[in-house]
Amino acid sequence: MHIDIITVVPGLLDSPFAHSILKRAEDKGVAKIRVINLRDYSTGKQKQVDDYAFGGGAGMVMMIEPIARCIEALQQERTYDEIIYMTPDGVTFDQSIANELSLNQNLLILCGHYKGVDERVRERFITKEISIGDFVLSGGELAAAVVADAVIRLIPGVLNDETSALTDSFQDGLLAPPVYTRPAEYEGMKVPDVLLSGHEAKINEWRFEASVRRTQERRPDLLRNRDQGESDGTSNEK
Ligand code: ADE
Repeated sequence: MHIDIITVVPGLLDSPFAHSILKRAEDKGVAKIRVINLRDYSTGKQKQVDDYAFGGGAGMVMMIEPIARCIEALQQERTYDEIIYMTPDGVTFDQSIANELSLNQNLLILCGHYKGVDERVRERFITKEISIGDFVLSGGELAAAVVADAVIRLIPGVLNDETSALTDSFQDGLLAPPVYTRPAEYEGMKVPDVLLSGHEAKINEWRFEASVRRTQERRPDLLRNRDQGESDGTSNEK
């Protein structure tokens, strides 16, 4: 998978991709992330990429011309499956969107700043608008890093144990069960006996029941979605 990210603050994206699983994905050649500085596509002396909003009001708006020049230059190199704009008014990101995006080859992510982009950018170029939650960040960069992380870890070969993404919270519409490691007892706090039993079927049953219990307690809305999916045949897809 190839992910290009357009930003006016490229430095914000240096660190997330330099470590851990995302770095491993790059080292293995499974995913390539490229950060593109929008200012390189501004023709002005000041490298201007934003301007005052027509109609007045506080805050600057990102101009269409540098963005169009940038996207059109990138499109000379590859055809994007999706051109994503990170914005608090987009659809709320979740595991099912991550799953869908992980099936693509080429993604382009545009990070907004200031008051956002000129509406015509959205009309002309954007195929998907994603929010990572009902709060406002200073820009789309951290949100883009969240999306890239959630997507890349799903690509086969990125995680060492390929089954581990399948047992994540949300993959089956349930939260993950509690997990334990050594020691088996810490200051009187014991690991559930069944997990030490070596009995795989019983362990799986315990984990499933613990998942359902945890979901019931913390996210009953997920159970309702799951029941709904089962009754209308859409499984856990929204
Ligand atoms: N840009 C600013 N806030 C955002 C959010 N919540 N999600 C995605 N992009 C954003």
